Amino acid sequence: MEDFKFLSSTKIVFGRSSEKELGKEILEAGGHRVLLHHYGKITHDIGLYDKVVSSLAKAGLEVVDLDGVMPNPRLSLARKGIELVRREKIDFILAVGGGSVIDSAKTIAIGVPYDGDVWDFYAGKAVAAKALPIGVVLTIPATGSEASDGAVITNEDGMYKRPYHSDLIRPRFAVMNPEITYTLPRFQSMAGGVDILTHVFERYFTHTTGVELTDEMSEGHMRAIVSSLRTINSNPNDYTARANIMWGGTLAHNGLLGTGRVEDWGSHMIAHEIGAKYDLAHGATLSIVFPSWMRYVYREDVARFARFAVNVWNVRPDYQDLEKTALEGISRMEEFFRSLGLPTSFRDANLPTDALDELATKCVKDGPVGNFRKLYKEDVIAILSAAAE
Ligand code: NZQ
Ligand code: ZN
Repeated sequence: MEDFKFLSSTKIVFGRSSEKELGKEILEAGGHRVLLHHYGKITHDIGLYDKVVSSLAKAGLEVVDLDGVMPNPRLSLARKGIELVRREKIDFILAVGGGSVIDSAKTIAIGVPYDGDVWDFYAGKAVAAKALPIGVVLTIPATGSEASDGAVITNEDGMYKRPYHSDLIRPRFAVMNPEITYTLPRFQSMAGGVDILTHVFERYFTHTTGVELTDEMSEGHMRAIVSSLRTINSNPNDYTARANIMWGGTLAHNGLLGTGRVEDWGSHMIAHEIGAKYDLAHGATLSIVFPSWMRYVYREDVARFARFAVNVWNVRPDYQDLEKTALEGISRMEEFFRSLGLPTSFRDANLPTDALDELATKCVKDGPVGNFRKLYKEDVIAILSAAAE
């Protein structure tokens, strides 16, 4: 096991009607004037906007609205938010939404006290020294951004989608009511579920030894998410399954399952390029990339992939032919993604395949990606080519 530091400072307020606690939580976090940041129409349509505004009003908080966040959130809206927050002297940012809204809020939070362009952080030219406090009302379990130290933003100038990490942008609290997720379209529920699973994959596939505790936790986590996704696939209003998925999304990405291990993240970097270029939901870019990534790298540690097949996908082990066991696990995972209605190739998602070179070039622009196997441009092209068909 590697040495590590672990911080997961976000307070989780979980359960039915938890959004009633909102005003109180903001006051406790020191907020007075609040930027209410959200998607727009959908926040009203699902009845959440009124509940949030009423909880804030009861707490005596002043509210300034900024909607218009779209999936794969854009830098231009965050820049607009930074100006608005400065002008209105706002001291707290409330993100009502999923990863896209939270990441836009995080970008505003580090941009406001910074005397320069907020893209500098994402371009690796600056390190955040200060940030406004953020709170979250989560509407889609997927990214884990509600308790993570990361934000991912897309710069329309060149369509670069890049992450930034800092403990300063961990939300102070996240209000999580599983009932809010009943209104999610099936595609969004399943894309979110696959994102959760892949956050565990990115940590599980490691060469670090002596991490049996987090290996076992990860396998149990993945089994529970798979079975809960199967449940909501046939019964979208199953509270227990929705609740397990929602909490699972946080636990997959608050850092716990990565403690003491070298993490991978190569597949996410490839998926981000597809998301930026074609504006596809993040989870669907991952269901396309992961089967091909796995088939490309499994020989790095066949035994680990065989263990994944047996402990997560219930494959009967063939001790004479672990490779066969490993490959059967990958096939079952791919079949599972398809059963959720998600694409596992460019063709499934109706994406063109004429820009693989461009995607790979951008992906490794700052150097090779991934750790389980370091991926250079030719590796990324090979994975994308396999994912094309
Ligand atoms: O199009 P509308 O109708 O507005 O649909 C919304 C939204 O656009 C819909 N939605 C959300 N909650 C709903 C709902 N519809 C009905 N009922 C509800 N309760 O879902 C659409 C997708 O939302 P979005 O916020 O984009 O989804 P997600 O949470 O998957 O966020 C994706 C973004 O987060 C980044 C991704 O790259 C992507 O940009 N990530 C952030 C991470 C982090 N900060 O730690 C880590 C992740 O790996 C990921 O990269
Ligand atoms: Zn992700």
